[in-house]
Amino acid sequence: MTQVRSSAPGKLYIAGEYAVVDGCAAIVAAVSRYVTVSISDETLNEELRENLQKNAPSSRNYCGAITSDAEKYKPLLWARASDGSIEIQNDGKYAYVLAAMGVVDAYASEKCAPNINRKSYNVHISSELDDAKTGRKYGLGSSAAVTVAVIRALCKWYGLNLSTPEICKLALIASSSVKKSGSGGDVAASSYGGWTMYRAYSREWLEAELTLVKSGCSDFGELLHKKWPRLEVKRLNVDKSLKLLVGWTGSPASSAKLVSSVESSVKTSAEGSTESSVETSAFDNKNQLFTYEDFCKQSEICVQKLARAIEKFEISEISSGFAQNRALLQKLSALTGTVIETHELTKFIEIATCAGVPAKTSGAGGGDCAIALSTIYDNNVIETMKSTWEANGIKPLNIDVTEIFGTGKPSENIVLDAFAKSREPNAQSVQSCTIQNRKDAHIALADKQYKTRADSDFDKVRFVPNALPQVALEEIDASVNVLGSEVCDSVHWCSPIYINAMTGGSDAAKKVNASLARVAAKNSVAMASGSLSAALRDETLLSTFSVIRSENPHGFVMANVSAGTSASDALRAVNMIHANALQVHLNAAQELVMQEGDRDFRNWLCNIESIVSACEALSVPVIVKETGCGISAKDVHRLKDVGVRTVDVSGRGGTNFVTIENARRNLGDCDYLADWGLTTVESLVDIRKCDSLKNMEVFASGGVRTPLDVVRALALGASAVGVAGEFLHTLMHEGEDALSLQIDNWKKQIRVIMALLGCKTVKDLQEKTEFVRADCLGK
Ligand code: FNR
Repeated sequence: MTQVRSSAPGKLYIAGEYAVVDGCAAIVAAVSRYVTVSISDETLNEELRENLQKNAPSSRNYCGAITSDAEKYKPLLWARASDGSIEIQNDGKYAYVLAAMGVVDAYASEKCAPNINRKSYNVHISSELDDAKTGRKYGLGSSAAVTVAVIRALCKWYGLNLSTPEICKLALIASSSVKKSGSGGDVAASSYGGWTMYRAYSREWLEAELTLVKSGCSDFGELLHKKWPRLEVKRLNVDKSLKLLVGWTGSPASSAKLVSSVESSVKTSAEGSTESSVETSAFDNKNQLFTYEDFCKQSEICVQKLARAIEKFEISEISSGFAQNRALLQKLSALTGTVIETHELTKFIEIATCAGVPAKTSGAGGGDCAIALSTIYDNNVIETMKSTWEANGIKPLNIDVTEIFGTGKPSENIVLDAFAKSREPNAQSVQSCTIQNRKDAHIALADKQYKTRADSDFDKVRFVPNALPQVALEEIDASVNVLGSEVCDSVHWCSPIYINAMTGGSDAAKKVNASLARVAAKNSVAMASGSLSAALRDETLLSTFSVIRSENPHGFVMANVSAGTSASDALRAVNMIHANALQVHLNAAQELVMQEGDRDFRNWLCNIESIVSACEALSVPVIVKETGCGISAKDVHRLKDVGVRTVDVSGRGGTNFVTIENARRNLGDCDYLADWGLTTVESLVDIRKCDSLKNMEVFASGGVRTPLDVVRALALGASAVGVAGEFLHTLMHEGEDALSLQIDNWKKQIRVIMALLGCKTVKDLQEKTEFVRADCLGK
């Protein structure tokens, strides 16, 4: 007999209930009560089979039985349809189990899983999530836990090795096919374990994607690798001394019913039904108008604050966060006429609050459990509270938050960090904008506006193929020697690609920089920091940049400053991260669209001249770069005249700071500038036409999306090629390991394309290649 077994924990909502259904963040903890699923090919005992078959249609091709420890779930035979797919029962029995089986089955077939022939099996479920004696539900998310446990067990059964985010996505697909509402926060908690911050995916999007899968235009593999709009699952790093306390009121509640009661109240009022007893808004106790939208907005802010407090272990902040979340839920209750905090739940909270312990309802409320957060050092207080709860008819449950599943690496977070607060920045937030949230908004908006195909004109650059390359792949050397001058020895880069300037200046940016730096180190590619202006003004932000050097002590790192920076500050920036070179950025279009941006660029050329001479004195190479609007040959001449030897054209077509800043303004009044500037290809072509610029070193960036774009840029005269938006996108959606793999793959592919063109070196690419439609490229 072959048998495999897997478990998944239940969950409790910590904060953000109800609003999570409408795309706001919630905190969910996985708790130490499990559903365990065993899959086996044991022959069914004759008596059971006969009994089951008596009540089942005889025409079916039965493949196994589903059984459960819980008496109320009677055993069921399951079958396959004639096309081999799992037949879903109409009476809703074991609906989550069957849905999970169906999803893993389809995915395993697609992937030709090692044990895909094991098509018949029995499933046995045992659960600790309900009351052992009475079988009554505690409200710990048994549907989600059983879905995740079946998915895990069946992946083992078929020999599939899936990551935590993949398990989570498969479970979300399965559970969404059964439950037509709900956020999926329970599924994320059961999949990830520990503490998570969760934001729900777009249901409409997933439904549309599943239709594509059904019609054969897509498959589950593709769906798992796609970016799921809005979905965020981020592990919270919580100190083990924080103690979760849970009390059960004894009265089960239906979350689905409560959520749909709130939803229908909100919907009725939004539709403007004058008959409805529910108003669109209500007056709160300060006599101020309070709407459902207010509830969602305030819940988001409260959850973000609570997540920080929980991670920092700040009990007083947790207390105020809980009180705020509770007050919001009370307002929602008044607004929609839904009873969220029952008498028993209020008792639980009051007893804890009297003892100085933060407490609130958990999940939809209306019964089920309430939670409190204390520390393991407060044993006496906890024991007294427990006795008082018991005396008041509330049963303390012996529950802890579980360990995490998976590696725990940040790369397993579905979205790297809580950029949520800057996700949809509005005009008001710009007014009170700090550098930190501007940096987060840049990352969030660059990602939101990311397009797989850039408009950078690279597609117009078509090589004349070389049918007789006359080279061997092993002879191809894509390394470059760059940044050499009379005062600086040239530097050898084993690959022509570098990670271009992006970020720094906020906690989230620090994490991005740390990841990029580790990837740069692993793949031996150069990397630039984001603009250090923030750290030059406020040294407390330094670590958000210097992490680049600490994570990549021996790599080639470029510091980045604006053209308005003084020479002494530019050198200070180089020292801050022990950089090997300095990038000076030109971003006039961005500054002018940005409400708080610079308006005076009169000293730029003069500054650049001083920076170059100060850096030359210390043998620090300088690269003057645009930030997405390109540089013309004429401007390269002007830069050359003040001593610049290397430019990075960073042209239009990829990340676009005009549209990013325009989105931050939320006015849309600068839309007409979206196409400002030269594309990367236009800039390169303009520069290569000028003989007098033959000695200028040109780097290319802006809209580089593929290894072929890199080779095209090199052939058009670039000595090295920078990538920002594309790599950021991979990092944010697939994580650090995926980015590392992508860069490694690009390095290999660049050599493959060079071989295809019969070019052994980058110099060959520039001298020997020919383009189709050479006239348009000026060659
Ligand atoms: C940037 N870029 C940038 N450039 C710079 O010189 N200093 C900076 O601080 C930043 N900040 C920044 C943030 C983010 C989130 C992105 C995506 C980009 C511009 C970047 O280096 C590059 O010039 C452009 O993004 C064009 O390249 P891509 O993104 O199309 O590959």
